[in-house]
Amino acid sequence: MKRRKFLRGGLLGLGGLMAGRTMQAAGPMGAAEFAERVQAAKLQGSVFDLATEALPTVRIALFGLGNRGSSLIDMLEWLIGQGHAEITAISDVNPDKIQRALDHIAQFQTTAPRVFTGDDNAWKEACSTDVADLVLLCTPWEWHTPMAAYAMRHGLHAASEVPIATTYQEGIDLIQVAEETQRHCIMLENCCYNGEELWILNMIQEGVFGTLTHAECAYLHDLRVMMLDPTYYEDRWRLKHHLFRNGNLYTTHGLGPVCMYFDILRGDTLSHLVSMSSREAALSEALSDSEEQALQDMAGRVKCGDVNTTLIRTVQGKSIMLQFDTHSGRPYSRLDKVVGSKAAHYGYPSRLYVDHGPSWSHHWLDESETAEMRDRYAHPLWTRLQALAAEHKQGHGGMDFIMMYRLIRCLNQGVPLDLNVYDGVLWSMVGILGEESVSRGSVRVDVPDLTGGRWRKAVPHPVHRDVQ
Ligand SMILES: NC(=O)c1ccc[n+]([C@@H]2O[C@H](COP(=O)([O-])OP(=O)(O)OC[C@H]3O[C@@H](n4cnc5c(N)ncnc54)[C@H](O)[C@@H]3O)[C@@H](O)[C@H]2O)c1
Repeated sequence: MKRRKFLRGGLLGLGGLMAGRTMQAAGPMGAAEFAERVQAAKLQGSVFDLATEALPTVRIALFGLGNRGSSLIDMLEWLIGQGHAEITAISDVNPDKIQRALDHIAQFQTTAPRVFTGDDNAWKEACSTDVADLVLLCTPWEWHTPMAAYAMRHGLHAASEVPIATTYQEGIDLIQVAEETQRHCIMLENCCYNGEELWILNMIQEGVFGTLTHAECAYLHDLRVMMLDPTYYEDRWRLKHHLFRNGNLYTTHGLGPVCMYFDILRGDTLSHLVSMSSREAALSEALSDSEEQALQDMAGRVKCGDVNTTLIRTVQGKSIMLQFDTHSGRPYSRLDKVVGSKAAHYGYPSRLYVDHGPSWSHHWLDESETAEMRDRYAHPLWTRLQALAAEHKQGHGGMDFIMMYRLIRCLNQGVPLDLNVYDGVLWSMVGILGEESVSRGSVRVDVPDLTGGRWRKAVPHPVHRDVQ
């Protein structure tokens, strides 16, 4: 009874918040005003290749010690063992998760981190250069921008889980604060570091795909069990978003790698999009089948359609189909489809076609031909670090370890990070712009330039740099 009441209370509160966000996306602050505010903000692109002071040991304040927070502690173990990093502060609102994290960290770090807890804003005390150099944000989505902006204003760098911003204004704020403070603000998009994605990126660099024309990407992950389980996401925060928002709520796992393939912000950028959501069914059916009255009451009130599809066009004329579905029962997929004038790749399972001119025969490369291409074009970053990841805790098959390795080693050496605040905000804003398109009958919505024109400069992606 107690929990039911709590859940209802929480939902009411979040309902107001989410309704406000939707209003902001679709109503008073629509895409047109967003574009005006971006112009008025006079964004400079001044932290595009930001290099900051070298930090031989990166002191980390980790906020949010749930599923993701715990797995990122694992990813840090080796780096901490080498003296490259140290967890100096932790924060969570749940005391059990604080204790779990302390026990976890004690397995490989001799000094215990300082604990910041007690209320929703206890983490603020940890945002001091006396305590940490970097905040690592693994909290629910609505906390990412406030925490990152506050940390930067207090002299720290910020690394946030995805998405990094959930409203237009948050996107502008993050870039403005990063430019004002000259602090790093990176969104931790781990899928950019997966072996398959890095292999495709390398083949693109080496010209295998010829002229790129189209990509299809997605986040198709049946999260019903996790969204309904009261112990999985703290206070079922993720389910609540689905009750009050409609569109693609999780753009970046699919879109991030495609933006790397397409040189987005490094010679090309996203121009405009349209988005459409299907009707909603699967989550409501799961809610009504649940044994909890409070969940049954939510059935039929889910706003987010089961399948959202967004079509995006780039300034240079490439097209992207981006999908989102966390309601339907089906195997996990990010699609990972790329088409060029000389080759095409389809993911899940991975298949490669190499074109030899007009022909009657259109066969995927066979197993041995594909293996040969995998060897020939394996990305050096993957080849070098996968072995190290394999000896330790890998996280999603290795990509999480490589992501964390790159972040910490770049900070150790004071060199630019692989992704910057403009990448993270742009990939996140596609979701907000898409929600607006959905709410206005799938109209075209323009994507404003968040880089002060810097996207025009064609440069190789920093992920290709060797950082030991
Ligand atoms: N990149 C990936 O592969 C991946 C995987 C899982 C989750 N995520 C992302 O990680 C983030 C966290 O997801 P999760 O699954 O770990 O959720 P979770 O609910 O398990 O963890 C969130 C934690 O934040 C804490 N928290 C909430 N408000 C707080 C506050 N004000 N101060 C301090 N702590 C607070 C909660 O108590 C909870 O322990 C989300 O942004 C999610 O999208 C990313």
